Amino acid sequence: MSIPKSWLGSPALDPSGPWTIPQRWADYTASEHRVWDTLFARQMELLPGRVAGSFLAGVATLGLERPGIPDLERLSERLHRLTGWSVVAVQGLVPDDVFFDHLANRRFVAGRFIRRPDQLDYLEEPDIFHDVFGHVPLLANAAYADYMQAYGQGGQRAVRLGAIDQLARLYWHTVEFGLIREANQLRLFGAGIVSSYSESRYALDDPSPPRIAFDLRRVMRTRYRIDSLQPHYFVIDSFEDLLRQTVDTDFAPLYEQLRDLPELEPTEALSSDRYIDIS
Ligand code: PHE
Ligand code: FE
Repeated sequence: MSIPKSWLGSPALDPSGPWTIPQRWADYTASEHRVWDTLFARQMELLPGRVAGSFLAGVATLGLERPGIPDLERLSERLHRLTGWSVVAVQGLVPDDVFFDHLANRRFVAGRFIRRPDQLDYLEEPDIFHDVFGHVPLLANAAYADYMQAYGQGGQRAVRLGAIDQLARLYWHTVEFGLIREANQLRLFGAGIVSSYSESRYALDDPSPPRIAFDLRRVMRTRYRIDSLQPHYFVIDSFEDLLRQTVDTDFAPLYEQLRDLPELEPTEALSSDRYIDIS
């Protein structure tokens, strides 16, 4: 894997930063490790043939197949060598500006805790399975890694411009629930999908949710549901394309334009939507 130039000269591996806590890896119980193993096995049975190739490549190069909850220090060492990112533990959700600061410095924040055995399928707050299994494999991909850092910088700017809602929708519809086209087939890449047993199937197999070609303005106008399967999915062409489109666009004038347009409800269709066939 080639090294993206953009992070050469970025800070050395730094397992700290604001709001972080020690992972205390040795304190996880056997039953907590078992929850990880169960979730991991379930998803890895489902995902080959459904998920973006880079995701599976990331799982392998980062050594995530090793049983048990990953040790973030060890994981960060590997990841940092590939793309300059590290993974740090936090207590729960962190304030927006703190989250953006971490991303802008190539640190991904992950919850320390893992869901209970009776919560395998649904959980309100992101745990370490969602955060690490769902998000981290793609951080080994150079273009995706650059996108996430640019997103953090864009977030700091959006705070100043009062446009966090619009920017957060971009994150939701790509990083959390995005689909990608690979070799003319639909593949999963959003962390919210790939860490969910039911949505990993639904997002590709179910005929009902429209799959709409990614359009930056459209996505930033589209509100989202956090408590159910998504009513539609947006499809990117590649991580390089997503990176190019977002980095090459100055969002300030865009935020201004979007302020005058109505927000779109999750199920609303636009005549300009371009649908991507699921077969
Ligand atoms: N180009 C965006 C801006 O001008 C920043 C950004 C890049 C946001 C990539 C998201 C993703 O604010
Ligand atoms: Fe997430």
